[in-house]
Amino acid sequence: MREYKHLLLANKAWAAERLEENPDYFARQMAGQQPEFLWIGCSDSRVAPDQLTNTEPGGMFMHRNIANLIHPGDQNLMSVVQFAVEVLKVGHIIVCGHYGCGGIQAALDGGVQGHVHDWLAIARDVIDSHRDELDTIPAEQRANRLVELNVRDQLLALAKTDVVQRAFTGGQPLELHGWVYDLRDGLLKPLMEIDATTPLGTVPTPDKVLV
Ligand code: CO
Repeated sequence: MREYKHLLLANKAWAAERLEENPDYFARQMAGQQPEFLWIGCSDSRVAPDQLTNTEPGGMFMHRNIANLIHPGDQNLMSVVQFAVEVLKVGHIIVCGHYGCGGIQAALDGGVQGHVHDWLAIARDVIDSHRDELDTIPAEQRANRLVELNVRDQLLALAKTDVVQRAFTGGQPLELHGWVYDLRDGLLKPLMEIDATTPLGTVPTPDKVLV
């Protein structure tokens, strides 16, 4: 078990290394942020967005929740999206799921209570919407296909939000990307993209990547 004090020690070492590499490092950080990307991903500790994309601090605005869900009424998420699009003017929003997602597995299996159960309602909606396909898939592969379908449905939900629609109709350059992270090889698998020209009524389900 890693002691919490190790985090503080590691932080001191990290800050010292940054200064050693570049004496202006923190002065430049103080000047402000201009990230090109908003990442919406799972809270899972194994899926560390900036590390797995080699992105330095300042390069990626971020929102993470269990199973990377887009709740249209989630003020936390929607304020992050609004700030990223309208103030930071990010060019890309990435919704990234991951195979082996415990939240997605729990949405399939049930058995969780309280906040987590309530939160996963939208993931259960994804199951209901794709029940015909999911029923044809062997049980052991079902969760990973649901991870892919969930990314698709969440990306679509994001595309329909007022903030993204305003950007699309206003001609602001903005692309939405649906990706899945594979814990087994550390690689991101692009599933689909949505931009201002995409007809949202006819967005197909992505081809199976893992199953
Ligand atoms: Co997860």
